[in-house]
Amino acid sequence: MLKNGMNFLMIPGPTTLPAEVLRAMHRPAIDIYDGPIVQTSASCHDDLKQIFRTRSGHVYIYVSNGHGAWDAAIGNTLSRGDKVVVLDAGHFAREWGLAATGMGIEVEVLPGSWRAATDPQALRARLSADRDSTIKAILVAQVDTASGVVNDIPAIRRVLDETGHEALLMVDVVASLACIPFEMEDWRVDVAVGAAQKGLMTPAGLGFVAAGPKAHAAAKRANLKTRYTSWEGRRGEADYLKYGGTPPEQLLFALRAALDMILEEGLEQVWRRHAILGQALRAALSAWATAGDVELNILEPSQRSDAVTVFLVRDGRARQLRELIAQSCGVNVGLTIGDIAGNGLRIGHMGHVNAPMILGTLACLQAGFTALGMRFGPGGLDAAAQVIGDAIKR
Ligand SMILES: Cc1ncc(COP(=O)(O)O)c(C=O)c1O
Repeated sequence: MLKNGMNFLMIPGPTTLPAEVLRAMHRPAIDIYDGPIVQTSASCHDDLKQIFRTRSGHVYIYVSNGHGAWDAAIGNTLSRGDKVVVLDAGHFAREWGLAATGMGIEVEVLPGSWRAATDPQALRARLSADRDSTIKAILVAQVDTASGVVNDIPAIRRVLDETGHEALLMVDVVASLACIPFEMEDWRVDVAVGAAQKGLMTPAGLGFVAAGPKAHAAAKRANLKTRYTSWEGRRGEADYLKYGGTPPEQLLFALRAALDMILEEGLEQVWRRHAILGQALRAALSAWATAGDVELNILEPSQRSDAVTVFLVRDGRARQLRELIAQSCGVNVGLTIGDIAGNGLRIGHMGHVNAPMILGTLACLQAGFTALGMRFGPGGLDAAAQVIGDAIKR
């Protein structure tokens, strides 16, 4: 009834594609051996290093989604029978662990909560007990899109250092890259796995694996890589070798346009924009939560991510609310998945997202509460506008 106009895609991926990105990819196929695609491919590889914040590492581009990049990361660094520890804080690190199990890796899950970040002290105890250094890698998601948590990667790095453990630190940044601060070099992350369709504002279909010096050393003995996933094979001179076959031309042109937008705005400014919009969104939800029908999923405010916000909806009305604002207002948010499936909603605020999209989404949610007779505390929209007002004050 009120949805004809600009649709707000506020799910935690895929995200809104900027017009510049759509324009850049709308072009015919061209020569893959020479010319514009070779330059574009080279510049994308270089600029992705800036996005991952690595100087000594190399970024590999896979024609895949994040799941495919998970496999490539495992395959190039580990061997059948190796043991890894998964830091559980929701859904995606566990899923990565399942992918590793499928490749013959021995996976141990360090249990966590769906409502809190992984506990570095639990990892400290586990690593201290691993006297024979049987653990070859730690798998963790910086942001888990299912729980809405942000895990403290520097704290995990400190635990590895203080226990003197040599395990590789492997971080899933699929939902955090180009949204929140991630410092691969300074935090000494050995492997980071990303994908195109969230913070990078590019259509799904590109997976990224950033690998540091220690990961490249591990690659020498790893026996799970395939001819297609192998990093060695992808370091060849000829450009198409970088992709293990034909380069995804249109997706690379799209990525190039997206990288130009991010670098023009400035990566720190992009992080700041996400932080302010995330804060505004949480301010509204915290105000609404005082009356009880909605509640933020992550209990500790400092562990709530600036890329996706998950909230619980009482009385099983999450699906109804989601459908109502989609059908009547043109706002799409996600339903919760995994252990909290259907109990709440997930709002993705990644990439090409601005103040009107956040305030518009919040206002439609409040309209949905009203339409469904749900209880909510006063002042939610005011609180969000206050955060944005304070941020744009001159
Ligand atoms: C944190 C995280 N890791 C990995 C994935 C998997 O990525 P893909 O859906 O591109 O395979 C997702 C997807 O939502 C995600 O949010």
